[in-house]
Amino acid sequence: MIKLHDKTFEPYLSPVDLNKAVLKVASELTADYSKREKPPIFIAILNGAFMFASDLMKELNFDLELSFVKFSSYEGTESTGVINELIGFNQDLKGRDVVIVEDIIDTGSTLERVLPLLNAKGVNSVRIATLLLKPTVFDKKYQINYVGLEIPNIFVVGYGLDYDELGRNIKEIYKLSQ
Ligand code: IMP
Ligand code: MG
Repeated sequence: MIKLHDKTFEPYLSPVDLNKAVLKVASELTADYSKREKPPIFIAILNGAFMFASDLMKELNFDLELSFVKFSSYEGTESTGVINELIGFNQDLKGRDVVIVEDIIDTGSTLERVLPLLNAKGVNSVRIATLLLKPTVFDKKYQINYVGLEIPNIFVVGYGLDYDELGRNIKEIYKLSQ
């Protein structure tokens, strides 16, 4: 058991489980991207995806580019679809094959707001790779192409994921204790 802020968490996914999930995504990506003429560009979403992105990149043995973006967690009441790029898509993405790297997809709202920004840059293709997906919560129309592990609708921390900014440094994943 660990305590972060006011809540306790119990072990859920071990480093071995996480490594299996990383290798699964890596082998699927290798099958799809290793023989492309133009290297794909992986774009990991900060802060949460940093640890997954780091472990995933070490398993991809073909030419690729890696970049990071960071968005403000916009939770305004007006659903204008506007999000602030704190660290934006600053390279020329025209004609590129982009793979978004996420730590976890829950409702899918974050990516729903990011995808139009990418499409507006004239990319050739966009696919999504996530370590974790909560399939019972995800209700958007776009496809999640690469999934390390599906989990139920529970709150998890560790391996990049936070509870109010704590827990990102933990090397396994814990779930909230009931
Ligand atoms: P979505 O927009 O609902 O898909 O949520 C995505 C973002 O919410 C993730 O990138 C995380 O930052 C955060 N999030 C969703 N579920 C969890 C969780 O179980 N633990 C920690 N953060 C989460
Ligand atoms: Mg996140």
